[in-house]
Amino acid sequence: MVSTEEWYYSYCFVDEPDGDLLKFLEEVDNGKALDVACGLGRNSFYLASLGYEVIGVDMSEIAIGMMNEKAKRENSKVKGVVCDIQEYNFSEKFDIIVLSYIFHYFFYHIEQIGILNKFIEYTKEGGLLFIKVPYSDERIGSLSLKEGLLRNALKESDNKWLIIHEEVRFSEEEKKWGKYIFLAKKLGLKKKE
Ligand SMILES: C[S@@+](CC[C@H](N)C(=O)[O-])C[C@H]1O[C@@H](n2cnc3c(N)ncnc32)[C@H](O)[C@@H]1O
Repeated sequence: MVSTEEWYYSYCFVDEPDGDLLKFLEEVDNGKALDVACGLGRNSFYLASLGYEVIGVDMSEIAIGMMNEKAKRENSKVKGVVCDIQEYNFSEKFDIIVLSYIFHYFFYHIEQIGILNKFIEYTKEGGLLFIKVPYSDERIGSLSLKEGLLRNALKESDNKWLIIHEEVRFSEEEKKWGKYIFLAKKLGLKKKE
């Protein structure tokens, strides 16, 4: 019998990379990428096709198993690792970090800020941080991003950041539901006063 998790990964977030990732990153062509809570790795495989060496992390063994099989089949530079992103510590920094459809899973301020600080830290100087999340005024995770949690976390970091894009986009059909999309570049260290 097919488990709920297997069913989920057969139908959801399967092939096409995120449209905003396509739109904003079409100019970029190399480096190391981290796809956070990658699922089956639709964005990982897209980044690999641009020339990135990609690590995708997800707590689902099923998703990572399917992703690694596909990477082997397609001889793609994608490596999947099973882990909880709240516990995992990375030994390297990345030229791009993608958090696609994950931040809304975290409801508590302490979790949210922990995750933001972690991935702010793991972005290389000159590297990009891309975040996309479903948005509504009732969704705590995405609301707090928009209300300044992310900007404050960047402000408090040791580096300067250039915000390239920030948007809340609502669909025509359902005005209440939208997406929060954010892209920023990590610049040099701030001057000490
Ligand atoms: C909605 S899917 C998004 C998948 C992918 N980012 C995409 O855009 O196609 C959310 C994924 O987050 C993973 N996830 C949820 N909480 C996690 C955690 N604490 N650590 C690692 N992965 C997590 C789930 O297993 C699932 O694969």
